[in-house]
Amino acid sequence: MLVGKNICTRVVLAVMLLGLGLQAMAQSAEQKELLKRINDIKASPALKEKAMKQGKARTALCKRCHGVDGNSLKPKFPNLAGQNAAYILEQMEKYADKRRKFRVMNVLSRKFTLEDKVNLSIYFGEQKVKPVLFNADLAAKGKVLYEKSCQKCHGKNGLGDGKDRDEDVLFARIAGQKEVYVSNTLKVFRGVANNQLTSTSKVYRESDKMEEVTKNLSDTDIVNLAAYVASLGR
Ligand code: HEC
Ligand code: HEC
Repeated sequence: MLVGKNICTRVVLAVMLLGLGLQAMAQSAEQKELLKRINDIKASPALKEKAMKQGKARTALCKRCHGVDGNSLKPKFPNLAGQNAAYILEQMEKYADKRRKFRVMNVLSRKFTLEDKVNLSIYFGEQKVKPVLFNADLAAKGKVLYEKSCQKCHGKNGLGDGKDRDEDVLFARIAGQKEVYVSNTLKVFRGVANNQLTSTSKVYRESDKMEEVTKNLSDTDIVNLAAYVASLGR
C-alpha cells in the first residue's frame, strides 16, 4: 500500500513538474516570438517609420494616463517611454488574457490587434524618459540593495540588460520609472509571494523571479529601492 502511494505521489509530482516546465518553455517561446516580430520591423528603416507613425496614431487611448511621449502623467501610472518594446508587448498580451490584472488595461489590451500592439510598443519604446525628482539619501541606501539583489537581471543602469537574462530577451527597463509605481509594484509581487494580497486589490501580477526577490523586503527597503530606481537612467 505504502509503495503504491509513493508511486502515485511520484507520478503526480512528475506530471506537475512537466506541466511547469512546459509552461516556462511556452512563455520563453512567446517572448522570443514577440521579440523577433519587433526586431524584424526595427531592422528595416521603412517598416520602423511606418510602425512609429501607426503607433503614435493609436496613442489616443493611452495619452491621458501614460502621456503622448510615454512619460506618465501621475505617479502611480508607469512610464512607457524608453521601455523595452518586447516587454511592453508581452505585458499587453498578459493583460489581454488576464495573467496580469488592472481593469482599464485588461479592456484596452483586448481592443487592439497584435499589429496595433506591436506598433504601440515600438513607438513608446523609442521615446525618451524625462528625469524625475528623487530623494538622494534614500537612493544612496537603495543603491546598496539594488546592486546586491536586482542588478543581475535589470542591469547596472536599470535598462533590463543584466547578465542573467535569457539570450536576447531583456528584462523590464526600470531606470527613471515613477517611484510610486515602482514601490506599489514591488508590494504587489511581495503580496502575491506571501499570499497577502486582498480581494479588493486593483492590481494583480505574478512572476516567479520577482516574487522570490521581493518576498523578504521590508517597506523601508522598498522605499529606498524605488528612490534609487527613479534616479537611474539620466
Ligand atoms: C486610465 C489610465 C490608463 C490608460 C488610459 C492606459 N493605461 Fe496603461 N496602465 C495604467 C496603469 C495604472 C498601469 C499599471 C497597472 C498595473 O500595475 O498593472 C498601466 C500599465 C500599462 C503597461 C504595463 C507597463 C509596465 O511597466 O509594466 C502597459 C504596457 C500599458 N499600460 C500600455 C498602455 C497602452 C498602450 C494604452 C493605450 C492603448 C494604455 N496603457 C492606456 C493606466 C492606463
Ligand atoms: C532573476 C531576475 C530578476 C531579479 C533579480 C529582479 N527582477 Fe525585477 N523583474 C524581473 C522580471 C522577469 C520582470 C517582469 C515580470 C513580469 O513579467 O511581470 C521584473 C519586473 C520588475 C518591475 C516591474 C517593471 C514594470 O515596468 O512594471 C520592477 C519595478 C522590478 N522588477 C524591480 C526589481 C527590483 C527593485 C529588484 C531587486 C530587489 C528586482 N526587480 C530583481 C526579473 C528580475
